[in-house]
Amino acid sequence: MPRPTINLRVELAPDNEHGLSLRNPVLVASGTFGYGTEYGRLMDVHRLGAIICKGTTVEERDGNLPPRTVETAAGMLNSIGLQNRGIATLLKDYAPKWARWSTPVIVNIAAESLHDYAELAYQVDTTPGIAGIEVNISCPNIDNGSLPFASNPQSAAAATRAVVEATSLPVIVKLSPNVGDIAAIAAAVEEAGADAISLINTVLGMAVDITTRQPTLGAKLGGLSGPAIKPIALRMVWQVAQAVSIPIIGIGGIASPADAIEFLMAGATAVQVGSATFTNPRAALDVLDGLSAWLHAEGIEDVHEIIGAALPPQ
Ligand SMILES: Cc1cc2nc3c(=O)[nH]c(=O)nc-3n(C[C@H](O)[C@H](O)[C@H](O)COP(=O)(O)O)c2cc1C
Repeated sequence: MPRPTINLRVELAPDNEHGLSLRNPVLVASGTFGYGTEYGRLMDVHRLGAIICKGTTVEERDGNLPPRTVETAAGMLNSIGLQNRGIATLLKDYAPKWARWSTPVIVNIAAESLHDYAELAYQVDTTPGIAGIEVNISCPNIDNGSLPFASNPQSAAAATRAVVEATSLPVIVKLSPNVGDIAAIAAAVEEAGADAISLINTVLGMAVDITTRQPTLGAKLGGLSGPAIKPIALRMVWQVAQAVSIPIIGIGGIASPADAIEFLMAGATAVQVGSATFTNPRAALDVLDGLSAWLHAEGIEDVHEIIGAALPPQ
């Protein structure tokens, strides 16, 4: 007997005029999949729900001093420092390629001022090949004491507003785990007009080289990613799902179908696979295939049946 078709389609921006309808809820995370073009020979990128490209800034950036990555017991630390080719190159060299793809590409933007967030959103707006914007607010706000925009509800909302007012595209705001009250920040971002929230970015950490007796990373501090951060990310998705009504995209240590299912049950409408791609370039597709197989084995016809299953009853 043929397998019944399972509905995997999810909508990440139900209130936006363009919407952000994905054929499945498995995306690849910013900074772990380049501009998508690099993976074409290794896998069928057109099966992904969406691709989030490397974070882009207004100007090209060289990034931090090496070493920029170090392995940890259950993950890795990175301090790439937003090395990227700048928005003009992205629009000229990559967007025309993305416009020919069936998989939506979401552009991740990063800035150190409200002005630059608005400038990036304005430039990306209605560019063919770009389906939405993910706003990395883990960058220092140089106009206001250099604390990251993500660190409190007011500055997170200000960055969100700057982007929302400069674009008609769906806006996903990516939260940082390096905060006290994640639910309050998520609520402020929703109030400021975000269409969706993604979480989490990396967890601030460090390593020391005992030979040199110095911090291992050139930038001294770095962001921890991989399996080590999954319980933190899950906890935050679960808390935020109870504080907002916009869709949530769960990120953090997802390497297997079961990891993704946990995030969906904790309240995420979709997931992003990040560092796992470095050890297995097909990791996101393996997660997708395993999710489909599990739903089929459970007799579930629509992925929405499990979204939020682990949340307390309302
Ligand atoms: C090498 C590397 C580069 C990253 N670059 C970005 C970036 O440019 N913008 C961003 O928002 N997140 C960036 N991230 C964070 C990831 O998108 C993701 O939020 C984080 O790694 C947690 O997911 P994971 O545990 O599945 O890797 C980067 C992560 C890594 C490991």
